[in-house]
Amino acid sequence: MNTVADPVTEIRLAAGADLAAVRAFDEFKGSRETEIRNGTCWLAWRDGVVVGYASYEPSGLLGQPLLTFLCVRKDCRRQGIALRLVEAVVAAARGRVLVSSTEDWCTASQGIFAKLGWRPIGRIEGVNKDGSAELFYSTPLAG
Ligand SMILES: CC(C)(COP(=O)(O)OP(=O)(O)OC[C@H]1O[C@@H](n2cnc3c(N)ncnc32)[C@H](O)[C@@H]1OP(=O)(O)O)[C@@H](O)C(=O)NCCC(=O)NCCS
Repeated sequence: MNTVADPVTEIRLAAGADLAAVRAFDEFKGSRETEIRNGTCWLAWRDGVVVGYASYEPSGLLGQPLLTFLCVRKDCRRQGIALRLVEAVVAAARGRVLVSSTEDWCTASQGIFAKLGWRPIGRIEGVNKDGSAELFYSTPLAG
C-alpha cells in the first residue's frame, strides 16, 4: 500500500516538564511557565513532539476567561492544529464567554475566529505599538 496515514495529533494539558519543548518553537515574548504551572496551557503533540500550544487566563478580561497565546510550529501549520487547540481551551475555560483579541492585520487569527464561529465584539483603534487596531472576539461557554 502506498498511502501515508495522516499524522495523529493529540491535545493534552501541559505539565512543568513540557516548558522546554514549548520554548523551542514559541514565537511570543516571555515564558509560558506561569500558564503551564496554572494548568491553563494546552499542547498539541505529534509523534511524541510538541507542535503547538494555546493558553488562557481564567479571568483575563472583565472577569471572563481570555485566550492569550496561540502558536503552532512552522512546519505543522495549516493542518487544523490551532483550531483543535482553541477548541480545547473552549472546553476547559469556565465563565459566560471566552474572549480573545488580535491585531487588525493578523488574518491568521481572524481566520481562526471566523472558522470557529466566534463573534466580533469590538475594536480599539490605534492601541498597538505599530498603530494598528486591536479586534476583539468572543464565544459562549457552557458555564
Ligand atoms: C496563527 C497560527 C497559530 C495558526 O495555526 P495553524 O495550526 O496553522 O492554524 P489552522 O491550520 O488551525 O488554521 C485554521 C484556519 O485559520 C485560518 N488561517 C490559519 N493560518 C492562516 C494564515 N497564515 N493566513 C490566513 N488564514 C490563516 C484559515 O482560515 C485556516 O483554515 P484553512 O487552512 O482551511 O484555510 C500559526 O500560524 C502561528 O503559530 N503563527 C505565529 C503566532 C501567531 O501569529 N499566533 C496568533 C496570535 S496573534
